[in-house]
Amino acid sequence: MSKDRFADYRQLGYDDFRQLASRDDLSLHQKIGFPNEYREGFAQVILADVRAKLPALDRPAAVVLDIGAGCGELALQMQRQARVLEQRLLLNDSAEVLAALPESAGSQKVAGRFPEELGEYLDGWRGGFDAVLCYSVFQYVFAEGRPFDFLDQALALLAPGGRLLIGDLPSSGMLQRFLASDSGKAYHRQYSGRDEDPEVHFNRLQPGRIDDAVLLGLMARARAAGFDAWLVPQPSSLPMANRREDLLFQRPGARP
Ligand SMILES: C[S@@+](CC[C@H](N)C(=O)[O-])C[C@H]1O[C@@H](n2cnc3c(N)ncnc32)[C@H](O)[C@@H]1O
Repeated sequence: MSKDRFADYRQLGYDDFRQLASRDDLSLHQKIGFPNEYREGFAQVILADVRAKLPALDRPAAVVLDIGAGCGELALQMQRQARVLEQRLLLNDSAEVLAALPESAGSQKVAGRFPEELGEYLDGWRGGFDAVLCYSVFQYVFAEGRPFDFLDQALALLAPGGRLLIGDLPSSGMLQRFLASDSGKAYHRQYSGRDEDPEVHFNRLQPGRIDDAVLLGLMARARAAGFDAWLVPQPSSLPMANRREDLLFQRPGARP
């Protein structure tokens, strides 16, 4: 076994998730790329935070898209919510991942890599969603090098007043700032099992990582395209709140 107990969960990509979803030896959390300790028992807290940021999720008959829905507890909760509130929920992910999710009234599976494999299908949905959720997905899109196209296409789907949450972003700047603190040093000692301070770097490019420039650049791009955009924290009750944050976007206006 690797000395680093999280090594198996790093550097995953869209095609790796297709394989993970069909493995019987993994828990629901491991199938979507998380060590159990980062998701076990957290679905309700995550959903409460997502609902606070996407109020349409509490509205009956809302039209909702979940990009990279996965096949874990969050997707199951989204399905449950759609059933109870008679919402229309589109769940997007690879066919293999979606096959590991049950069918459920009110929800519909849309297989394919967002946005490029959904092509014309998306055209019919422009301006059609009250809420678009993309939770713990964008880091994989970023690693594949298409962040702006992904953002542009997701924003185009919003109805007036509709919101897009690109949530649970690993933020390399936030991690460095945390590790420089006394709590961060103590955390590093516990995590690494070594009695030494973490190496902390400011003002150094970290290729492949989502840093402050990436986050602020995404906000600026959305604002330039006419959307409101905010970088918002996670509640401290979430397991990675010390190094993850969320981007929230809204198309100005209200549904007619
Ligand atoms: C870490 S899992 C998160 C699942 C779920 N959103 C959650 O938080 O429980 C990431 C998911 O994003 C999916 N994914 C990655 N890139 C995608 C893309 N471009 N389009 C659709 N799904 C994507 C993967 O297949 C995987 O199921």
